[in-house]
Amino acid sequence: MKQDFLRYQAQTTPNPLGLEVSHAKGSYIFDSQGRAHLDFVAGVSACGLGHSHPKIVRAVQEQAEKYMHVMVYGEYIQKPAVTFTKLLASLLPDTLETTYLVNSGTEAMEGALKLARRYTGRTEIIAAHKAYHGNTMGSLSIMGYEERKSAFRPLLTDIRFLRFNSIEDIKKITENTAAVVLETIQGGAGFIMPEPGYLEKVRERCTQTGSLLILDEIQPGFGRTGKLFAFEHYNCTPDILVMGKAMASGLPVGGFAASGPMMQSLQQQPKLGHITTFGGNAVIAAACLATLREITQSTLMADTLVKEKLFRDGLQHPLIKEIRGKGLLLALIMESEEVANYLVLECAKKGLILFWLLFEPRAVRISPPLTLSENEIREGCAIILEVLTNYRQQFVN
Ligand SMILES: Cc1ncc(COP(=O)(O)O)c(C=O)c1O
Repeated sequence: MKQDFLRYQAQTTPNPLGLEVSHAKGSYIFDSQGRAHLDFVAGVSACGLGHSHPKIVRAVQEQAEKYMHVMVYGEYIQKPAVTFTKLLASLLPDTLETTYLVNSGTEAMEGALKLARRYTGRTEIIAAHKAYHGNTMGSLSIMGYEERKSAFRPLLTDIRFLRFNSIEDIKKITENTAAVVLETIQGGAGFIMPEPGYLEKVRERCTQTGSLLILDEIQPGFGRTGKLFAFEHYNCTPDILVMGKAMASGLPVGGFAASGPMMQSLQQQPKLGHITTFGGNAVIAAACLATLREITQSTLMADTLVKEKLFRDGLQHPLIKEIRGKGLLLALIMESEEVANYLVLECAKKGLILFWLLFEPRAVRISPPLTLSENEIREGCAIILEVLTNYRQQFVN
């Protein structure tokens, strides 16, 4: 199977982790030899309710039996998408009442960028250094990491960058700016939190200049930081909210929300301002609806903060220099890149799944299912400490 994987499936790195998956349930992925792997990554924040949550499986099965795909996005009235977007609207500020459902996070960002240019009639987009918003050409254009995008130029024009958390740089936003795009919590950069007052100041400047604020909540969204969306921790509401990942508990999806009048600009001049075949797909929307109901009707969101504390208390070690992030979106900042690599690879051997972050080589990601139990947290933390102690014994005098 491994040889076929390497030969027939396009690869993204020369050395993929290569775990051969048999099945997955709750907080565990089981390999083809029947070994259980405790999952502290959750498909890179996508499996917020763990693997194959029974309520999501049931919603998917029931919908698949009724109908799956019937028409391109936007033409037919399909109950799962209507019910989901209505419930989402009831949980968001009025100015984010309408959601456009698409197939991935990066497509949601493409839609948000198009909407911002179309609505404002301006072209300039400002993004942040070390930002990650996806991998299609538009999202790549606003990636704040030249090394990963220069091979694909020419990209979108009229893109500028500011430093995340720099008050000084906010003045780069002017009357020429269509939109400022920020991750509410910078992910690839190492789960960098916005400093107190920063997002509020960006919001103020955007309002002054008539620029739209787009917040990318693809990582922290759907309860991971203790609120449905991380912007709710701040006094800052975006004009366009971009979401994805945990939204459908492991099925491919994305969405961008804005006010009704703003979204209407995609209907005319030109009409069909964004087209997608599978966006709003009934089976996926049913999974979104079941996910949102479970997150909002359980104590899972509030529990993330209790679980964060368990991680922070349980992961005290001299090789862990800092723990960044909020709720169950955490990054261990290790002493060096070497320690980070050792930790991820050695934990994998011991049945604990960890992963890296894109632009911070010293970081190790912890973004487990929100359903992770306290015992599973203790079990995983014990493995991390054991591996770090082994490292010290082997490599540190
Ligand atoms: C902050 C952020 N934005 C956008 C994306 C792109 O989402 P997708 O991979 O679903 O296209 C990601 C994916 O990791 C992300 O972390």
